[in-house]
Amino acid sequence: MDVLLGLQWGDEGKGKVVDVLAPNYDVVARFQGGPNAGHTLVFDDKKHVLHQIPSGIFRPETLNVIGNGVVICPIKLRAEIESLQERGIDALSNLVLSKRTQIILPTHRALDAAYENAKGQAKIGSTLKGIGPAYQDKYGRNGFRVGDLLRKDFKERYEQLKSAHWKILEFLGASPDLEAEEKTFLEAVEFLKKVQLADTEILLNEALADGQRLLAEGAQGSLLDIDFGSYPFVTSSSTCIAGACSGLGVPPRRVGEVFGIFKAYCTRVGSGPFPTELHDNTGELLRQHGHEFGSTTGRPRRCGWLDLVALKYAVMLNGVTQLFMMKADVLSHFDAVQICIAYKLPDGTLVQTMPYEVSQHDDIQPVYKTFKGWGLLPESLSWKQNMPDELEDYMAFITAETGVPISILSYGPDRSQTAFNQNVLCK
Ligand code: IMP
Repeated sequence: MDVLLGLQWGDEGKGKVVDVLAPNYDVVARFQGGPNAGHTLVFDDKKHVLHQIPSGIFRPETLNVIGNGVVICPIKLRAEIESLQERGIDALSNLVLSKRTQIILPTHRALDAAYENAKGQAKIGSTLKGIGPAYQDKYGRNGFRVGDLLRKDFKERYEQLKSAHWKILEFLGASPDLEAEEKTFLEAVEFLKKVQLADTEILLNEALADGQRLLAEGAQGSLLDIDFGSYPFVTSSSTCIAGACSGLGVPPRRVGEVFGIFKAYCTRVGSGPFPTELHDNTGELLRQHGHEFGSTTGRPRRCGWLDLVALKYAVMLNGVTQLFMMKADVLSHFDAVQICIAYKLPDGTLVQTMPYEVSQHDDIQPVYKTFKGWGLLPESLSWKQNMPDELEDYMAFITAETGVPISILSYGPDRSQTAFNQNVLCK
């Protein structure tokens, strides 16, 4: 099993890369997160955004698995499947859903909003898709799993959990009108029975034993991990490598390549520390040139220079074996580009490794190294033939500092705008 992980705060471009890699794999599987994710793929001049369905869905010969570690919203999953069907993609034929996947109820979504409201200024900036409350119920051992839909007492158990949620909502002073949403939810739950349901941990292990190739597709990013992200401004799942094993039921010794994906700069949506954030015109230019608006919520993303301290931390946590650098074209618009190589802490100490204090202080100063910009890139970029020296220097520095080679460089949203470093690419 190879694993693709975001090394920043999400939105690194995982959708595009999985789509490019998908032909090399028999199975693509999602292992954590849920409808908070938005993986964007562009091909044939059309934009496709997937939230819960793995990005291999556009290739009929690829099996797509939603694993046990995911929390699924039936309403959104149905909408996603139907929207694919409208475009002529029969998602029901190559999608399998784990019976152990947890279900997001309408009251989970309402709780997400109520908890955020209660936090006031300290709010996390959640996508409000019900992710946190659904994982809370999973770990509190109250959750609902896809397999439960087949039980005769499903409705009774649903009512029980719903009424427990209502007590909390009332306590928090929230009184959302969920009637219409509940109706849609119950219809979507019926629809889910049309999806192939399976013990996917068995299916995946048997596929691996048969010699099939599996790609685990991460959602969000390492810096949003529940343990290693800038807590509490994180998501509620394990976005790092360990999450791939527990979220699919595949043992660690089955892990092969670990592909770490990062943007040539940084973005973040929602609240929380972001040492290299640019509040000036440069940040605005990054946002405009990079079209940095959330694919799930449409929110403008916070933008800043590449943070090597954070990148090295993510590489370490995940044991990354190959790096994929995305959106190099966005930096074409700058004469000079910067990389943060150290943090200056409030007491003046310089650190090059990620300190716990980053999640505590806003006043951490980035220390930058400046690089010459590479200007507009050729329409078709080849690693060996026309790679600008400045871009090569930028990548060489990252490789030297992380100890990991860059094997894919993306320089535009289309599948075709991808350069491969054949020296390191392991297929
Ligand atoms: P939640 O997981 O929706 O509760 O959001 C928690 C934090 O993670 C918020 O700051 C969100 O903006 C962020 N987040 C969640 N999912 C994504 C994603 O797919 N990309 C980027 N940020 C995300």
